[in-house]
Amino acid sequence: MATPFALDRREVLMAGTLLAAAVRFPALAQSAPALSRAHADRIARLIADMSVAEKLGQMTQVAGGRQVALNSRLDAAALDRVRAGQIGSFLHVAGAEPLRDLQRVAVAESRLGIPLLFAMDVVHGYRTIFPVPLALAASFDPAVAEDAARVAAVEAAVSGLHWTFAPMIDIARDARWGRVVEGAGEDPHLGARIAVAQITGFQTADLAGRDAVLACAKHLGAYGAGMGGRDYDTADVSERTLREVYLSPFLAAAEAGVGTMMTAFNDLAGVPTTGNADLVRGILRDEWNYQGLVVSDWNAVSELIDHGAASTPAEAAALALRASVDMDMTSDTYAEHLGTALAQDPTLLPLVDQAVGRILATKARLGLFDDPYRFGDAARERTVLGSAGHRARARRAAERALVLLRNEGGVLPLRAGAKVALVGALADDARSTLGSWKARGVQEDSGTLREAMGDATFVPGVAPRSDDVSGIPAAVAAAQGADVVVLVVGEDFDHSGEARSRADITLPGSQMALIAALRVTGKPIVAVLMNGRPLALEAALEGIPAVLESWFGGNEAGPAIADALFGRSNPAGRLPMGMPRTGGQLPLFYAHPPTGRPANPDLTVDSARYHDTEIGPLFPFGHGLSYARFTYADLAVDTQADRQQARYTVTCAVTNDGAVAGDEVVQLYVRAPVAGLARPGRELRGFVRLPLAPGQTRRVSFTLTSDQFAHWADQGWQVAAGRVELMVGASSADIRLTGALAVPQAYALPASALAGAALATQVTVA
Ligand code: NOJ
Repeated sequence: MATPFALDRREVLMAGTLLAAAVRFPALAQSAPALSRAHADRIARLIADMSVAEKLGQMTQVAGGRQVALNSRLDAAALDRVRAGQIGSFLHVAGAEPLRDLQRVAVAESRLGIPLLFAMDVVHGYRTIFPVPLALAASFDPAVAEDAARVAAVEAAVSGLHWTFAPMIDIARDARWGRVVEGAGEDPHLGARIAVAQITGFQTADLAGRDAVLACAKHLGAYGAGMGGRDYDTADVSERTLREVYLSPFLAAAEAGVGTMMTAFNDLAGVPTTGNADLVRGILRDEWNYQGLVVSDWNAVSELIDHGAASTPAEAAALALRASVDMDMTSDTYAEHLGTALAQDPTLLPLVDQAVGRILATKARLGLFDDPYRFGDAARERTVLGSAGHRARARRAAERALVLLRNEGGVLPLRAGAKVALVGALADDARSTLGSWKARGVQEDSGTLREAMGDATFVPGVAPRSDDVSGIPAAVAAAQGADVVVLVVGEDFDHSGEARSRADITLPGSQMALIAALRVTGKPIVAVLMNGRPLALEAALEGIPAVLESWFGGNEAGPAIADALFGRSNPAGRLPMGMPRTGGQLPLFYAHPPTGRPANPDLTVDSARYHDTEIGPLFPFGHGLSYARFTYADLAVDTQADRQQARYTVTCAVTNDGAVAGDEVVQLYVRAPVAGLARPGRELRGFVRLPLAPGQTRRVSFTLTSDQFAHWADQGWQVAAGRVELMVGASSADIRLTGALAVPQAYALPASALAGAALATQVTVA
């Protein structure tokens, strides 16, 4: 439950001043605000009046078509099912007019007239495409993630959609997993902050308000921990890691009132999450009091049979229902087989009524019982989608997502008038700027780097999917005639995403051969990376003085990258996942517990490291450079410990010693040792992206509570008494100031408490 000191970070950038308001978290039960009396009565009457088949219909979500064409499966048979009350929701549908027509069939032609829910994966934009989610997290600016979600929601809502399957809030520590592109990276605190921002952007404060859409926190749980980075694979993590790391963003999402959650494809220690009563009913419903709608992932109810957890479809349906999965995405197992399970075991019927109640309550919260056509506006759809205002916001996000990884000898920014050879097919790949999940985005809307670089000589060299090296000589010739080479390398959009895990995350195709040939020219090379995951690039980047990580930057990727290269903007993003030297280091994350034999550079000492690579990542979590230079000073800690839960304010001064304005991402890490346990060597507990003019000094204060040092033990949260180390710096590996604070007394918090990484830290800037 919310605690007296629970804080939220709401930063507002006003007239150059970063203000922060302390907002108390409401109790977890806010995930389902009380329904009006009229709605509650109507839902009760409906449930009393519904046949079992109609109830199972509400619990059924059907695909409207995506592969062939959007809405292509909204055929006569589908409409007949709607009339018969056999469908509660459609996914992969869109468009104000078609969805109005479809809603009319449900409302006017079915016996009970219950409106349908329309859903789509609107992940980082609907028509206006923003940077991929991993890139939005790299902004280290939750306001950017919130704004991307807001624009996406406005466009989705006018196109008739009620519900997006976003945000994906799975923590990912293995870059081989293709879906790291969809999340916020490796850290549960950053992940929780970005998740809450996205949920706020999609849902706003009032789901019944204009242009609010229902968000869906997915995929519960530990989907990102799939073995070996393989998609859909088994996850087997300890209860402590599950609670402290993988579930933290979900706890924060529940607290923030996310309207829906989705179970995952994987099993967790042998129990598929879609049939996992301990996880969904036990933790989510009973412990966290989550009242929102839970939907399965695509076909995951029937896949309980493939997992071997159920032997018949009726068993699979009963298992998912018992776990408290309300809606069956696409497998029709509830529709076709839950009736059999109910006949065998009538005690399941109250669970069906609860599920239907949650689905109908969700429809009521969206205002659909008051006006089933309130979403979708064909006139606004024509003007709002891809509007200039939305593009401007996508541009800002693309700019803020860029991470300057290396800049030796001041190669960047490029001199105005420098002769540039732009090399690499990705520089001209508009489709790849859209990344994975593009909703209704079109590549024709995207500006490529080639277009944005004006008179640079462009040579494709090699394409990331091809072994054809015949373009290399032309690239070398262009380099020889230039002052500097801007080399765009990485992956294309389809190398990452769902079912896109890779065993080898070095540069695909012949890109290494291209780099080798360009190196020989002796020209300075600026590498611009495009990718949906951290790649293992130690060898590829050897001898390359400047490296800019651009991810898949959305419609405005090209102009945003060009601005950063020429110094018209100053990059300040940070890595939300460390970049390994080699794939053999995976899984890799900074918040590692110390071992008894810490990694030692001396190979004659037995230690926790590989013998054939350097220690640690190539670029660590939180790393990112600037054209400015920042110094840190004056760490001070103020403690208020007049009650069991202590409150601390950690303050320091940060100065821009550079010649240009820039943002520094100030990061607060803690190490909270606990007798008897090996706790992580550092854990992020606060961050702020701080704009500073040249010569300017600002004081940053992080206010946090001892609840944020809690660890999971004995079925609950424990806060240990003693000294907590503080580390403030520019990345997880670049600590500039250290200090300590004391937790005066040990105490326990219940399992339902918002604690650890899920809690927000209040940040104020003077
Ligand atoms: C499967 C994916 O795992 C999930 O994230 C997505 O929302 C659904 N398909 C619907 O497209």
